[in-house]
Amino acid sequence: MARIPREIIDEIRSRCDIEDVVGSYVSLKRAGSNIKGLCPFHSEKTPSMVVYPSSQSFYCFGCGAGGDVVTFTMKYHNLDYMGAIEYLASRAGISLPQSFEEEDRGVPRKRVYELNLAAARYMRECLFDPQIGGEAMRYLHEERKLSIATIKHFGLGFAPNHPFLMLQHLRGLGFTDDEMRAGYIEAISTKTQKPYSIFRNRVMFPIIDTSGNVIAFGGRVMDDSKPKYLNSSDTPAFKKSRNLFALNFAKGNCAERMILCEGYMDVIALHAAGYPFAVATLGTAITSEQARLMTKYTKQVIITYDSDEAGQKATDRAMKILGEVGMDVRVLSMSGAKDPDEYIKKYGAGQFTKLIDESRRGFYYKMNVILAGHDVNIADEKIRAADEISTVIAEFESGVEREVYTDAAAKNLNIPHDVLKNDVERKRKRRIRSEKSKEAQDARMSARGIGDKVNPDAARYFAANVAEETILGLLLEFPEHRAAVVSGKVELAADDFVTALGRRIFEATMELEGSEGGFDYALMGESFTPDEMGRMQKMMRMRRELSENGLPVLIDSIERLKAEGEKAKAKSSGDRLAAIEARRRELAKKKEENT
Ligand code: GTP
Ligand code: MN
Repeated sequence: MARIPREIIDEIRSRCDIEDVVGSYVSLKRAGSNIKGLCPFHSEKTPSMVVYPSSQSFYCFGCGAGGDVVTFTMKYHNLDYMGAIEYLASRAGISLPQSFEEEDRGVPRKRVYELNLAAARYMRECLFDPQIGGEAMRYLHEERKLSIATIKHFGLGFAPNHPFLMLQHLRGLGFTDDEMRAGYIEAISTKTQKPYSIFRNRVMFPIIDTSGNVIAFGGRVMDDSKPKYLNSSDTPAFKKSRNLFALNFAKGNCAERMILCEGYMDVIALHAAGYPFAVATLGTAITSEQARLMTKYTKQVIITYDSDEAGQKATDRAMKILGEVGMDVRVLSMSGAKDPDEYIKKYGAGQFTKLIDESRRGFYYKMNVILAGHDVNIADEKIRAADEISTVIAEFESGVEREVYTDAAAKNLNIPHDVLKNDVERKRKRRIRSEKSKEAQDARMSARGIGDKVNPDAARYFAANVAEETILGLLLEFPEHRAAVVSGKVELAADDFVTALGRRIFEATMELEGSEGGFDYALMGESFTPDEMGRMQKMMRMRRELSENGLPVLIDSIERLKAEGEKAKAKSSGDRLAAIEARRRELAKKKEENT
C-alpha cells in the first residue's frame, strides 16, 4: 500500500482541528477540559461522545466509536482512508500531490472522468445515428415521449448491441483496458477470458456530478428483458451512495424545495414538464449521505415514490433518514398513476403543481395511511389506530410538534386531546428508558467481549484479551514503553499475542516505531478500520485514566499474556485432539454398522 507522506498527514491534522471538524456536524458542549456531544454513530438522547482537544481524538462511551479526525471523517462520510484524507485536505485547502492520488487508486479519478466523457459522447453519437441507434431513438422519442431537446439536455445515449464496438472506439482514443475496467465500462468474460462491453443494447443515462463530470451511467433495456436497469458499480470516480441523478441541473433550482423520485425517467419527465428541481437516487434506497448532501442545497424534500407497497416502505425509510438530518419532509400522493412520469403523461404537466401544493408533512401522511387502514367507527379499530398514531407521535423530539400532531390526531379520531396526549408521553418515556438500557447493555456486552465484532477472538480468550488491551494501551500511549520493546529491555513478540487483532495492532505499532519519524497514531488509520481505530482509542483512554502506567504494569501484563497464550495453545490443540478422537469414533461406528 502506498504510504501517505507524513508531512501531509501532519499538515492536515494541524489545519483540521478535531473540535472544528466534529463541531461542524455535531453540536458540542464544554465539560471541563473536554467537550461532549451527541454521538452521530448511534442513536442516543444524552451525549456520550467526548472530544479530547489535547490528544486531538474522540471517543464515544455509548458505542465505542473513537479515533482521530481522519477516523471521524471516514465514519461520518462513509469514506475509505484515502477518501477521508482527500476530503480533509480539500476542506483545509491543501492540495495533494498528483502522484500520491494515482499511486493508491491505480487509475486516477481524473482519468475515469475523461473515459466517461468520451464514452458518453460516443453513445450519444450512436443514438443519433439511425443505422445504430434508430430503434433506441424511437423508444425514447415515441414511446417515452421525450423531445429531442430533452434527450440532448440530459445527454442521453445508446450503447450498441455489440460485444466490443465501444471498447474499440475508446482504445482508439488512447484509453487502456485497465482504465476501462476500473471505470466499469469493460469486463472480462469468465468463459472466454476476453474483454467485453458491460453496457450493450441499452438507452443510456449519464450521471453527472455538480462540477459537471460524467461520473457513471445508468442504462435501460428497451423491452421486458432483465435487468431492466443496469447501473455503474462504484469506481474511483463514483460512489452510488454519495450522488444523486440530475443534482447537476437541480442544484440551481431547488433552494425552496426538491423532489425526490425513484427513477431516472421520473426525473427527466419532471424536468421536461417544468419542475427542474427533481432528483433520484441511483438504483438504491436513499442513504444518510445523500440526505446530508441534500441539506447543502435545499430546505424541503418532497418524496414521490411509487404508490405500491414497496413504494410505501421506501417512503417510510426515506422520511426517517431525511428527518434525521433535519429536513422538512413532505410526501406527495398520486392516484391514477404509478409514478410522476406516468402521471404527467396522463394528466399533463400543470396538474403536478397541485400535487406538490397538496403534499403533506411526513406526519400527516403517516396518519392518513394509518387511518386508511382502520375503520374508526368500530371501537376496536379506533383503539388500534389511536395506538399506532400515538406511537408515531412519540417519536418526535420536539414538544411543539408532538402537541400539534396530538391535536390533529385527536380531532381525526374524535377522542379527547388529553387522553391521546397521556398515551404519547407514556410511550415516549418508555422508549427513552429502553434506549438507555440498550446503550448500557451494549456497553456491558462489549466490556465482557460478548458479541465483539471488532475483535471476534476476545470472547474466547477473555483473560488474554484483557492483558493485550493493557499492553497495547501502554504501547500506543507511552513512547518509553515502545522503546523498551524495541531495545529488548522487555521481551515481547508478535507471536505472544493471542487475538488476531491484538497481534496486528502490535505489529503495525512496532513497524511504525522502527520507521523514520517513529510511531504516530494518525498513521495507523491507513491499515485499520474506523472501528479498530476506536478500539485503540479505548485502550489508550483506559491507560490515561489510570495512574499506574509504569514498566512494572507492562511487564506484569506481558507475563500474564504469555501464560494465557500457553493455555490458549493447549486449548486449541486440545480441541483438535478432541475433534480427531470424535471423528475416529464416528468412523468406527459406521464401519460397525456396515458389517
Ligand atoms: P421505467 O419503467 O423506465 O419508467 O422506470 P421506472 O423508474 O418507472 O422503474 P422502476 O420503478 O422499476 O425503477 C425505479 C428505479 O429503480 C430505476 O430508475 C432504477 O434506478 C432502479 N431499478 C429498476 N430496475 C432495476 C434493476 O433491474 N436493477 C437495478 N440495479 N436498478 C433498477
Ligand atoms: Mn416509470
